[in-house]
Amino acid sequence: MNAPQLRAHKRRAGKAPLVMITAYDEPSARLADAAGVDLLLVGDSVANVVLGHTDQLHVTLEAMVHHTAAVAAASPRAMIVADMPWLTYHGTPEAAVANAGALIRAGASAVKLEGGANRSSVVEAILSAEIPVVGHLGLTPQSVLAFGGFKVQAKTSEAAKLLLEDALALESLGVCAIVIEGVPAQVGTDVTHALGIPTIGIGAGPDTDGQVLVFHDLLGLTATKPAKFVRRYADVGEVITTAISRYAADVRSGDFPNESEAYPTPDELRH
Ligand code: KIV
Repeated sequence: MNAPQLRAHKRRAGKAPLVMITAYDEPSARLADAAGVDLLLVGDSVANVVLGHTDQLHVTLEAMVHHTAAVAAASPRAMIVADMPWLTYHGTPEAAVANAGALIRAGASAVKLEGGANRSSVVEAILSAEIPVVGHLGLTPQSVLAFGGFKVQAKTSEAAKLLLEDALALESLGVCAIVIEGVPAQVGTDVTHALGIPTIGIGAGPDTDGQVLVFHDLLGLTATKPAKFVRRYADVGEVITTAISRYAADVRSGDFPNESEAYPTPDELRH
C-alpha cells in the first residue's frame, strides 16, 4: 500500500474495506503485518496506551520519531502512517513541514494530523513538501480539553454539516484519506459517500471505507474498559499474566532454569 493506492481505495470502487491498526514497536508491527493489515498507525495513542498518560497531549515529536523508527524496523509490507503529535503542526507551516519530515525520515510513508479547514495552511505546506497526509476529524483526541472530554462529536445536523465541510476541504487540499472518529454512524456513512478519497472509521459505524482499532484494545492489553466501538478479539493480557505467573513459580520452586537451559560447564571449571 502506498499513498496513491490508498487514495484510490474506495469500497464503492469494489475494494475491500481497509484494515488499519495501531503499532508502536517492532513486535506489534511485525505481528500485525503478518496478519495482513493494510496500514499501521503509529498513533499518538501511544501516550495513554503505552506510556501511562491520561491523554494524547503528553507525547512529544521525539517520542513519536522513536516509536515510528521501531515500527519501521519490522520492515512491514503495510503502509506506515505516523501521527503528528499535539503542537507539532499548530505553529508555522515551516515548522510543521520539518516535524512531518522527521516522522518520514524515521520510516513513515504518510503523516496524520487532526483538524479540517482550520489546518489548511499546514496541510498545504506538508503536501507541497511531497509528504502524503491523512486527515483526522470527529472526536479528535488532541481536542480533549476543548471538547471537555472524549465525547462523541457531530451529534447535531449543524455539527455534522461542519464536519462534512471539513472533510471536503481536506479532500480538496489533497489528503489521501481521512480518519473519522467517534461520530454517529450516519455521519460516517454520509461523509464516506460524499468523498472520492477513503474514510477510515473508528467508532464511525460500518460504512466507512476502512476501520482502525488500537492494537492493545483489540487484544485485551488495556487496563481500562474499552470504548463501545471496540471489539476485543483476544485476551492476551490474561495469557501474559498466566505465563509470567508460571515463570515466577518455576523460579521460586527452583525448577527454572534446568540443565538444558544452562550453558554446559567445561571439565576444567568443575569442582
Ligand atoms: O492515535 C491513535 O491511535 C489514533 C486512532 C484512534 C485513530 O489516532
